[in-house]
Amino acid sequence: MNKQSRPVNLQLQTIRFPVNAIASILHRISGVITFFALAILLSLLAKSLGSADGFATVASWFDSFFVRLIIWLIAAVFCYHLVFGIRHMVMDCGYWEELTSATASARICFIVALVLIILMGIIIW
Ligand code: HEM
Repeated sequence: MNKQSRPVNLQLQTIRFPVNAIASILHRISGVITFFALAILLSLLAKSLGSADGFATVASWFDSFFVRLIIWLIAAVFCYHLVFGIRHMVMDCGYWEELTSATASARICFIVALVLIILMGIIIW
């Protein structure tokens, strides 16, 4: 490679990801986490529906702060995926595709997701 064309003085601390890029990568990550979290949720559901004792056991697990924290984190990730999934589908219909509208919708979705995540915390605790 020509020495002149190599990137020099690449200041990583000054490089910022655009909000749309962050929204997109987090959406993919949240989808993968939701997929694996389903196994936890379905096994809890199966145990709680299996018998009255199973239900009581699962209910008692929810007394633990740690269990509630995990359930809240799963709910938070799903809320994020849901809100940005709806945004994605709106974009698939041909809206919010320009840079300014896409950036604005991503910012609004971050706020909506945050409100839902806080609401989930209030419901769980
Ligand atoms: C059980 C629930 C769900 C799971 C496990 C899940 C999982 C995933 C995963 C792993 C991806 C990433 C695919 C990729 O980027 O290659 C994805 C993408 C997507 N999800 Fe979900 N998802 C779930 C629920 C939802 C819901 C409820 C919505 C709608 C509101 C939704 C909308 C989308 C959309 C639109 C994409 C495409 C994003 C893109 O093309 O970059 N998902 N999902």
